[in-house]
Amino acid sequence: MSARLEAEHLYKVFGRRPDQAVERLREGADREELRADGTTAAVIDASFSIAPGQIFVVMGLSGSGKSTLLRMLNGLLEPTAGRVLFDGQDLTALGDRELREVRAHKISMVFQHFALFPHRSVRENAAYGLEVQGVPRAERLKRAGEALALCGLAGWEDSWPDELSGGMQQRVGLARALATDADLLLMDESFSALDPLIRRDMQDQLLELQQSLKKTIVFITHDLNEAMRLGDRIAVMRDGRIVQTGTAEDILVRPADDYVSSFIQDVDRSRVLTASSVMDTDLRGDEADCACETATPDTPFNELCAISARLTHAVAVLDKDHELVGVVPRQRLVAFLGDEQHEPTPCVSPREGGEKVTAHA
Ligand SMILES: Nc1ncnc2c1ncn2[C@@H]1O[C@H](COP(=O)(O)OP(=O)(O)OP(=O)(O)O)[C@@H](O)[C@H]1O
Ligand SMILES: [Mg+2]
Repeated sequence: MSARLEAEHLYKVFGRRPDQAVERLREGADREELRADGTTAAVIDASFSIAPGQIFVVMGLSGSGKSTLLRMLNGLLEPTAGRVLFDGQDLTALGDRELREVRAHKISMVFQHFALFPHRSVRENAAYGLEVQGVPRAERLKRAGEALALCGLAGWEDSWPDELSGGMQQRVGLARALATDADLLLMDESFSALDPLIRRDMQDQLLELQQSLKKTIVFITHDLNEAMRLGDRIAVMRDGRIVQTGTAEDILVRPADDYVSSFIQDVDRSRVLTASSVMDTDLRGDEADCACETATPDTPFNELCAISARLTHAVAVLDKDHELVGVVPRQRLVAFLGDEQHEPTPCVSPREGGEKVTAHA
């Protein structure tokens, strides 16, 4: 499948002589070295490719460059170097008018703060993106109503924004983005201002909507748990650079460096891991029994624990052709729940002269 959105070696430098700064970054200089001359390297050499229908999450601490990266993706900021390709079209090569056109019709932004107009009704707020597109009033109010219904706001169309809770206001923001039919949604910390429970609700709602709408979404967050819940793929940013791109599971199981490892320490692994990343694929001499209850590679961790608890031996993992592809002894489950330990350490029995003992649960 071809990519909907691609970033190719994107750089954004604020300050004097940005081109020279990019040269220095290409030669290996880091943010700190440039800062000494009063130059900020906000985004350094970012590359990725997002398939249609994917939720791509950009995660990183404050100041790591997330918003700057996002603003280059819709052409609000011009990259200092590199290209952004949207459906193969180079956004960085477009003129102002063409760019405005693409932004009005094909890309929608959902911000952290609801950015609603206080003196317009909920329906008119949701219709705003269509108004910018020049869609006739009756048509845009109709489509806004449909988008509001999708976001669970049927019945609130004629209310004023200040009659709605924060979570509901954020839904209006989402409805505004959905009403335009833009395929690409850019969401910058869209749920970060919400209370934890409402935030979770919004995450669920977005995932549910996504099942049928299949938009291409770039979602920015500094919250790793949110990233892991929402992201088909996640890019972790640090000091302007993307240090790792992968699925939630990739990042948990194979963190690219110590920074990512320290970041993922507090993640609830049991929500993310599946049998495929926990199982032992070295099948020699294992005692799994395929006649009993078995798992598949995408069996969630929690379910795997439940199966394991009902068996006296390791859980067999079978692929769709019922071939044995791995086994999960109970001790592996325990090891994966621990913090940075990804492989169970073999225990050494002193009686057996230091020979490895691989226990079967
Ligand atoms: N217009 C600007 N001029 C100068 N420096 C800027 C500008 N915009 C951003 N920066 C700097 O670029 C760096 C990255 O900022 P950015 O807003 O992209 O980070 P962020 O990851 O979105 O942070 P946050 O989580 O706080 O929103 C920061 O050091 C910031 O101060
Ligand atoms: Mg930001």
